[in-house]
Amino acid sequence: MLSRKIMVAAIAMSSLAAQAQETQFNIIPEPVQITVTGEGTYPIGRNTLVRVSDENLQTSADYLADYMSRYLGIPLQMEKTKRDKRKKTSSVASSDELPGILLVNRNSDNRNSDELSGGYQLEVSQTHGVRIEGNDAAGVFYGIQTLIQMLPTRAGVLPVLPEVKITDYPRFAYRGMHLDVVRHFFPVDFIKKYIDYLALHKLNYFHWHLTDDQAWRIEMKCRPELTEKGSVREGEIFGLYPGKYQPLPYGGYYTHEDVREIVRYAAQRHITIIPEIDIPGHCMAVLATYPQFSTTPDEPKKAALTWGIFNKFNNVLAPKPEVFTFLKDVFSELCDLFPGQYIHVGGDECAKRWWQESEETQLFMREKGLKDEKALQSYFIHYVQEVVNGKGKTLIGWDEILEGGISEDCIIMNWRRPEFGKKALKTGHRMISTCSAWLYFNMKESRTQTEIAPRGPLPLEKVYEFQIAPDSLTAQQQELVWGAQGCLWTEYIPTTWKAEFAIFPRMSALAENVWSPLEKKDWRNFARKVEVQFERYELWGARYSDAFFRTQDIERKR
Ligand code: ACM
Repeated sequence: MLSRKIMVAAIAMSSLAAQAQETQFNIIPEPVQITVTGEGTYPIGRNTLVRVSDENLQTSADYLADYMSRYLGIPLQMEKTKRDKRKKTSSVASSDELPGILLVNRNSDNRNSDELSGGYQLEVSQTHGVRIEGNDAAGVFYGIQTLIQMLPTRAGVLPVLPEVKITDYPRFAYRGMHLDVVRHFFPVDFIKKYIDYLALHKLNYFHWHLTDDQAWRIEMKCRPELTEKGSVREGEIFGLYPGKYQPLPYGGYYTHEDVREIVRYAAQRHITIIPEIDIPGHCMAVLATYPQFSTTPDEPKKAALTWGIFNKFNNVLAPKPEVFTFLKDVFSELCDLFPGQYIHVGGDECAKRWWQESEETQLFMREKGLKDEKALQSYFIHYVQEVVNGKGKTLIGWDEILEGGISEDCIIMNWRRPEFGKKALKTGHRMISTCSAWLYFNMKESRTQTEIAPRGPLPLEKVYEFQIAPDSLTAQQQELVWGAQGCLWTEYIPTTWKAEFAIFPRMSALAENVWSPLEKKDWRNFARKVEVQFERYELWGARYSDAFFRTQDIERKR
């Protein structure tokens, strides 16, 4: 059994230095600076008052109160928000002296500020209680996450905080997690839970992989057939590929109403959603709905029943006028539905043989002066980019979109080897690292773990030590590294508990890697903190893998 440390509290010590040494903070991701400021303590209880400097912070105050009540059984008191701004400012100033939890946004007017978005300061003092001051509303929210990580990991234990000052801000602006809801579908409630997990780790982008060969999972008012036909496949394989075919129809999709609810839920947690519609390859579900969109319209089509790259089945859009109209319609609707700045076009693993073998496609290429199929792939991506840019948004694509040339304002998601990311940086593109060998959490965590995937292992330490912006990059290239993201492809993840088992604890390692400054990254300290993090997963009711500890045991015995 793992030992169960109760995380909290001041330890009565005679000097601050000794106390600093003895008080263990188990905050993930590790903050920039933690300073123990006194020997006193501040307890949080059912009468603790929460106040906000600005009514826009009320959602965050409610979030904290909900966490305290849901997980620790402590209902906080909420001060009524003042509607009148002037009154409100003076009220906070005068009530500043009251003990309690005070949330302050330094930039409540959303003025352009040089201060780093997401930065915050958290101070605990015996007389004033907790003060969280954010550079912006996101900073206040991250300060709340840090406060949450200073709380006990069990209900029934009184939270007693040491006097401390924490200064913190993120290393990278993009901190993401992806979820494939195509290979297996996850209900709205789980999507919200997943978003909560991101929030608890100070991650700020949720990449939602909505379409692929096996299904189209988002309602399109402009093309209702896409979900009527394309959201259901006839069956699937159970077990590892080639597995055992089960002829059970499998389906599910998200309505516009679902999407709006999820977008709102994410925004309250300072998370932006990036929807992905994967084209021009990975389109078997589209072609099952519209066989005329393929280069082989007379051959029967259906949504894929199994996994892999489909050189064998035609899964590629043909360059026909009706296909471009389709792309314009669906990407326009996607832009209107999602308020975020970014739209993902996929662009990965496009099997070019279908274009090579199609006379009509070859004629189109000659007419347009496209020298090869890579150029045709670029033509598709350019087309979608114009639609997306026309809506004032920015395009993101997997690293293959670089192959036939692409304009500079596209953002590249580097999923293959880091060399492809470097290529993107050299051509002046912003880049997000999702390198599969380090950041695909569908890979098993240890060699002996058979629960989730045939590939791997991808151990916790490898995720932690992944160099998001390696030293070999020039300063200019480093600037273009926007951040990193963990991915969860769900071919072998049919249930929500397996999804949790796959992401935890590796998502926690990613969070520290992408948030904490390099000089604060320390694998041994992180490995120690993971033990407490396991208690948090249990508090949240989340499944997790303990392969890390089992692997350590094996190593110790050797
Ligand atoms: C990918 O894993 N094909 C992006």
